[in-house]
Amino acid sequence: MHARVVAATTTALLGAMALLPTSEVRAAGGSERPLAIAHRGAAAYAPENTLPAIDKAAAMGFSWMENDVQRTEDGELVVLHDDSLRRTTDVERVFPGRAPWKVKDFTAAEIARLDAGGWYSPAYAGTRVPTLAQYMRRIEHNHEKLLLEIKNPGLYPGIERQTLKVLGHEGWLDPAHLARRLIVQSFSADSVRTVHTLAPGVRTALLGQPAMADLYRYARFADLINPSYSTLSRAYVSTVHALVGPHGAPMRVFAWTVDDGRRARSLAGYGVDGIISDRPDVVRSALHDA
Ligand code: G3P
Ligand code: CA
Repeated sequence: MHARVVAATTTALLGAMALLPTSEVRAAGGSERPLAIAHRGAAAYAPENTLPAIDKAAAMGFSWMENDVQRTEDGELVVLHDDSLRRTTDVERVFPGRAPWKVKDFTAAEIARLDAGGWYSPAYAGTRVPTLAQYMRRIEHNHEKLLLEIKNPGLYPGIERQTLKVLGHEGWLDPAHLARRLIVQSFSADSVRTVHTLAPGVRTALLGQPAMADLYRYARFADLINPSYSTLSRAYVSTVHALVGPHGAPMRVFAWTVDDGRRARSLAGYGVDGIISDRPDVVRSALHDA
């Protein structure tokens, strides 16, 4: 019964979003182009994908954060990049017999015991892996915007609907947030298409670089194509820009992960709309202080 009520509520919420006027669904906001987006929350300056990382990025004057969302064994969404807890927490010390320490094999309570900051610096010891709900509250508190990546969706069936449910509960599916503060992305085209189908008002991005001849297929459900900088060309960016996305605006391009000023300037010359960086201050200086 409870599950049915929740499902009905979610369906109603997502259905209402389908009615969102096109005028409310614009390309990524901001007056400075390209945007500098703090990758995993300015990952060069604080432990990635943690609350201190997005606090640090906010203090540095950045508004767009990027993160990675995965799911625990008992169904909690958490913010973490790798599918294993090993690199960015002290899980090996706390749970020595649980190799390979996959996120999906640990409960939320177990993950809440882990230190997600000490590996980066003793100054951040005691930092926790945030749940997505905790993360959204801090993003909201900081008046930030979010490029949310659904990570490894193949490992987590239904994670798209669940992510949208958390976003809805946190107040992020209203017209103001949808128009200016949220983009959901994934390397999985199926996952991006699912998000678009469930919540047509949400702007979406496909990570990767599909063949130019195939881009029109993605324009049906993705507002942006977000490729690695390493394979990007001016011609590719122009081809994306010539397409109209699902919300009636030209498709956009955010390139990743760029921590070098010269490279950032080169990408700006290609016409990219955003540059995702562990060192967004380097990108900002290269582009706007020159
Ligand atoms: O947002 C782009 C970038 O985050 C994709 O790569 O591996 O850092 O999640 P990754
Ligand atoms: Ca990511």
